[in-house]
Amino acid sequence: MIYISPSILAADFSCLADEVARVETAGADYLHLDVMDGAFVPNMSFGACVISSIRRQSKLLFDVHLMINEPQRYIDDFIKAGADLITIHSESCEDPISVIRYIRERDVRACIAIKPATPAEVLLPYLEELDMVLVMTVEPGFGGQKMIPETLDKVRTIRREAEARGLKLNIEVDGGITEENIWRCTANGANVIVAGSAIFKTTRPRSVMQKMRAEAAEHTFAG
Ligand code: DX5
Ligand code: ZN
Repeated sequence: MIYISPSILAADFSCLADEVARVETAGADYLHLDVMDGAFVPNMSFGACVISSIRRQSKLLFDVHLMINEPQRYIDDFIKAGADLITIHSESCEDPISVIRYIRERDVRACIAIKPATPAEVLLPYLEELDMVLVMTVEPGFGGQKMIPETLDKVRTIRREAEARGLKLNIEVDGGITEENIWRCTANGANVIVAGSAIFKTTRPRSVMQKMRAEAAEHTFAG
């Protein structure tokens, strides 16, 4: 099953509720919320209070991507704000799996993300304990970048390993994904697709997402 998760980083923040409603009615599955602290990544975005405000406006699954150092400090805040799924970065703290366990004990889904230079192997010991993994297809920090195709080799490695172990793992990809290149992601085994610019910076988000789903259906993982 393919899930599309528009990233609000590319939305017009002066009318965020309308922007979220626009992608929700156009057929999004998740809403991707990029939290940046200006330290783990060289950019700042928004925090839990913004998420909590839009939570009241939307029924989408809230997919919260924490690009912050020592994320364990803020997990309670993001759960309280209404996160359904929380992603922390493997590179952002000493002991990511203990943060994952903390999140899941509170009935929230949990995911570990890896940056382009981090090997897939760091995730393999933990696949059974994860609801999702996120393979960054750009350097985290900014929307509107070009996808780095080599990162998709890691998606393939993880999908193969998950299948070998009989796991129904969600694999998310994030950064530079468009209707033109989504097929490369799904063909390598990704099934949760983040797209910021491609969905928010268009007047026809419904047809973009339809095209994305059609491309994904035509290019499925084949081992
Ligand atoms: C980058 C963020 C992405 C970004 C994606 O650090 O994690 O979610 O908003 O935006 P596009 O699709 O424009 O690359
Ligand atoms: Zn993201």
